[in-house]
Amino acid sequence: MTTSSPRTWMTTEILDQAKQILSGMSLEEKVGQMTQYDWGYNPINPETGVSQRDLLVEEIRQGRVGSIFNLAGAEQANELQKLIQENTVSRIPLLIGRDVIHGYKTVFPIPLAQASAWNPDLARRTAEAASRESMADGVAWVFAPMIDISRDPRWGRIAESIGEDPLLTGEYAKAWVEGSQIDDGAGQATASCPKHYAAYGLAEAGRDYNTVDLSDRVLREVILPPFREAVDAGALSIMASFNEVNGIPACANEYLLKTILREEWGFEGIVASDYNALQELITHGVAGSEEEACERSILAGCDMDMHSGFYMRHLPKLVREGRVPESAVDESVLRILAVKIKLGLFEQPYVTVPTEEAAAEARASFIELAREAARESIVLLRNEGKTLPLSKQGASVAVIGPLADNRKDPLGCWAFDGNPEEVVSLLEGIRQAAGAASVHYAEGCSMESDSEEGFEAALEAARQADVVVLALGEALEMSGESRSRTSLGLPGAQRKLVEAVAALGKPVTAVLLSGRPLALPWLQEKADAIVQAWHLGVQSGHAIADVLFGDYNPGGRLPVTFPHNVGQVPIYYYRKKTGRPPGGVYSSYYIDSTTEPLFPFGYGLSYTQFEYSDITADRTSIAADGKLTVSVTVTNIGERVGEEVVQVYLRDEVASVTQPLKKLIGFSKVSIGPNESAALTFKVGMQQLAIIDQHMKLIVEPGDFTLWIGPNSSEGQSITVKVV
Ligand code: GLC
Repeated sequence: MTTSSPRTWMTTEILDQAKQILSGMSLEEKVGQMTQYDWGYNPINPETGVSQRDLLVEEIRQGRVGSIFNLAGAEQANELQKLIQENTVSRIPLLIGRDVIHGYKTVFPIPLAQASAWNPDLARRTAEAASRESMADGVAWVFAPMIDISRDPRWGRIAESIGEDPLLTGEYAKAWVEGSQIDDGAGQATASCPKHYAAYGLAEAGRDYNTVDLSDRVLREVILPPFREAVDAGALSIMASFNEVNGIPACANEYLLKTILREEWGFEGIVASDYNALQELITHGVAGSEEEACERSILAGCDMDMHSGFYMRHLPKLVREGRVPESAVDESVLRILAVKIKLGLFEQPYVTVPTEEAAAEARASFIELAREAARESIVLLRNEGKTLPLSKQGASVAVIGPLADNRKDPLGCWAFDGNPEEVVSLLEGIRQAAGAASVHYAEGCSMESDSEEGFEAALEAARQADVVVLALGEALEMSGESRSRTSLGLPGAQRKLVEAVAALGKPVTAVLLSGRPLALPWLQEKADAIVQAWHLGVQSGHAIADVLFGDYNPGGRLPVTFPHNVGQVPIYYYRKKTGRPPGGVYSSYYIDSTTEPLFPFGYGLSYTQFEYSDITADRTSIAADGKLTVSVTVTNIGERVGEEVVQVYLRDEVASVTQPLKKLIGFSKVSIGPNESAALTFKVGMQQLAIIDQHMKLIVEPGDFTLWIGPNSSEGQSITVKVV
């Protein structure tokens, strides 16, 4: 849990300017600033024939809208800003938003893939590129990063997350906020919006939008740290989640929005509701009317109403009736005005569209970055008999599967601004990389049906080739929002296709393009090599081929646990010991399954091998406020340069409150040449040793601590240190 204070971007100058604007606004204008609509939602009224958008344009003209999202480009943005400038009294520019989750037109790997790179700085760069690209289209507010801790691969939105660990997610949260909040110095800037605050990823049964029930302890130990990192990094807004926390949906949850966010953390940015979440207060059954939903949200501290229209419809009346103090409205409007001032919108409400050549130059650099990010996101899970890398000299390759000649699905979820025509498919990537080798292709089967019609052609392609690459996985529609699954298997007839092809006895590499961990224990028997390639975006095919043919040595590590079966879920490394650790009868175990993961958190292989040695601590005991340094030497004992993610885990052996078996407290990604070594050190102090005690106080308790240093959460060498 971080203890630093948030960056104060809300300077006196910004606040004074905001107060000055506020002083001239009517109550309706103030509430208009707290109102946001989805431009993409445009039904036609069957009776009147009037479109929703026509009504919305009129609302904007009357100064009753503060933010719009899902616009289609700079021209439209400038038109609406002009409408404001020419028709409203206070001429307050719109804040234009968009879900820029993993790229804009240049689609980068899904966040769960980028998390596999264990390289927050890479995410900073992709986030900055995405903001630059979307800013040129008028977007000043990106609804990212998504930093929900996700331990349940049934939940489709795990694809948008950084995975199961608070430290890794926190590092990415900080980098993503810093990368996505840019300022071109010429009056164009963007705000980030970490989401979904809070605990949305703990939806029961992995079913999206389902009930969330967690202790204040799990909230504070696991869920909140990444959001605190995001706030301390200067996030200008945060999005409240749909779900309840301790019985109250987030957009009406004063404990979340005021006690923690404002009073404890000093957050000064905008709190936005999620889509129509005020309406959902009625569905949840915690508001009996639109007015009550409106009242609960504003009094709990929700500044911006996304798309329900409740604030605009009811807040002026509630203020005039004295049920909501106007000071509550003023507080929210001040934050919204302050962010708009900070973004330079008052000086420059219009988007400056870059010139053709500037856009083309930027695009080329984004494409390069997309390939770099995709390569680093790939995780090598199995490589028996050095099946990989494939040879480029002469060996013929069969490329088989529904994700092979496929440009749509590698875009992944939340990639509306991407263009499948610009995606490099795995088949293309292999064709371009294979050099002299000949390539035979067959789809084999689809993901949507159990038909085996394509099997014969696939077997024929495999028979003609020396080696087989299977392109397997999920369609992009199978992960993301409202895409929970009860199975973690391969959709359609893919498993049967694998079994049929494997029976030919050729070397088989399975490439998995999915939005979530899949539970495929049987695949170990059928594929000599397995590569987890997620949904990697526009450069998918080149990046995977770079790895398959050895032009890039994979260094990815899993940011989330891969289960043996869906029955084990939720399964995560950060688990407690319990009073009966898994063993035989009468222990915490299954009679029909292992309790171990298929692949543990932090796992990943390389084309080279690494050895760990000389693990030492500069002192073996420290005071509660002391610090120690742990050192390790990592040697590359293979023949080629490789990247290793050195991971440090901690266990508090005896504490006043149960502690996880292991907790990631540090990591470092290093590139090491063949027969070379790297010496690494990690600081361990209060930040790493502290627990939240039974009184919910942060404290370092005396006792023994075990530190592990190793390549993943299941392996490593340990040392013991004592706090006295
Ligand atoms: C969606 C999502 C949220 C997104 C918002 C606007 O329902 O929950 O992540 O930013 O609506 O599209």
